[in-house]
Amino acid sequence: MQSFQHGEFTDFIQWHDMDGNIINASDGGVIYAEGKYHWYGMALRPLGEGTDGTGGEVTDTGVVMYASEDLLNWQYEGVILPCTDIEGHPLCAPMRFERSKIIYNEKTKKYVFWCHYVKCPGDHGVADGTAEAGVAVCDRVNGTYTWVGTHRPIDRDGAVKDMTLFKDADGTAYLIYDRREVDAEKGRAIHIVKLTEDYLSPTDTYRKIDEAAVREAPAVFYHDGYYYMITSGVTGWAMNRAKYFRTKDLMSEWEDMGDPCVGDGADITYASQTTYVFKVEGEDRFIHMAERHNRENFLHCAYVWLPIEFGENGTLCLKYLKEWK
Ligand code: DGJ
Repeated sequence: MQSFQHGEFTDFIQWHDMDGNIINASDGGVIYAEGKYHWYGMALRPLGEGTDGTGGEVTDTGVVMYASEDLLNWQYEGVILPCTDIEGHPLCAPMRFERSKIIYNEKTKKYVFWCHYVKCPGDHGVADGTAEAGVAVCDRVNGTYTWVGTHRPIDRDGAVKDMTLFKDADGTAYLIYDRREVDAEKGRAIHIVKLTEDYLSPTDTYRKIDEAAVREAPAVFYHDGYYYMITSGVTGWAMNRAKYFRTKDLMSEWEDMGDPCVGDGADITYASQTTYVFKVEGEDRFIHMAERHNRENFLHCAYVWLPIEFGENGTLCLKYLKEWK
């Protein structure tokens, strides 16, 4: 690939790996490690029963990874967290590893993976096993990850929905997730939870981000004095307006900054939903990863990657580009 291709808001332009296969890494992220970018995500099940856009977007494969030196050309690296067909096993397919994220722990020298875990048969909900934070770990970025288990941070009354990880400059890491109260009347909001030093468990230190009530798809990053969090609204697979928040202290108040998108298509985030924000290695540039959901055929979703612009006074701007390098 020579440039990022997005087309019109109604287009679903497929990106292919260097073997010519469609890149199938739903909901994931990018980590720079061992001299390359590594893009990972859940490999969606081929179109068929349960993948017709009714909410059955599951995996039989697991989490896969691709590597690149230029962010445009991706070599398939294989399955890093495989499903099994062993009944009763936590990774028994079909299931979901939604919104997978990987960070590196300098102290333990391990790559730590978290996701919104949904057990077999992969149906969403708030019941035990359908809305947990799942954790896996590996010595190599692209090795086979070992499943550690699941958590419900804070207490079991809050189901874990969309989530992300953020590693601060001092090495402290956080799980940021949409906590949906099992008792629906109690509502939902993004919460931030400090992780243990090995990043494998939540601690008791957390904050309910009241400012980000009823938001999902959080992506958190730091730039020039502010922590930013870009989020979507909550409308299932339908696109909606993004909103971002910022703070100078992760565990303090977050300021509602409104929509980072501008012009045509801003009301639907240019027909996409945030998945992650990563920094270009060695440069002061950040890329917003999003996905254009194709409810007719999830394998033909499209990736929408846009550069983040920093404006005056710590504001953000995300402009749509049909194509860019
Ligand atoms: C929107 C979320 O952001 C996705 O991760 C997924 O859970 C869908 N909702 C399911 O409808």
